[in-house]
Amino acid sequence: MPRRVLVLHGPNLDLLGEREPDVYGRLRLAEVNAAIESWAARSGWTVEIFQSNHEGALIDAMHAARGRVRFQVVNAAAYTHTSVALRDAIRAVAVPTIEVHLSNIHAREPFRHTSLLAPVCVGVICGLGLHSYLAALGAGAALYGGEQG
Ligand code: DQA
Repeated sequence: MPRRVLVLHGPNLDLLGEREPDVYGRLRLAEVNAAIESWAARSGWTVEIFQSNHEGALIDAMHAARGRVRFQVVNAAAYTHTSVALRDAIRAVAVPTIEVHLSNIHAREPFRHTSLLAPVCVGVICGLGLHSYLAALGAGAALYGGEQG
């Protein structure tokens, strides 16, 4: 399989930069995506990036990536804490998944401390802003970038 990775952004992440800048910073989603694209260009990976505010659309994107990507980086945003359907999708597609968050969910409200997705992910990176995504991409490339993937 070619070195291809999917990055999924969940609900309200389209408003990055405007939305609660004290929590999420001032970077816009387009700037986050540009940094991800630039990582991919430097690293020899093809990256597909998708944002949706709809749970089913995120699930459809995972299904479409099945067998086509070596791993996926998922910021499911609020669905992290609520979605059995996304958790089941991660299991169903059997694509290695790294959960990421811009903010440190463990330093926030108690309802954010629980992730329904984390138990079916390879690992979780949170609290590093844009670097959560870049760290996840670097780790995934190291883990899944070999010839046999
Ligand atoms: C988030 C954390 C979630 O708790 C929240 O609902 C988000 C963004 C983050 O990236 O820090 O929308 O996933």
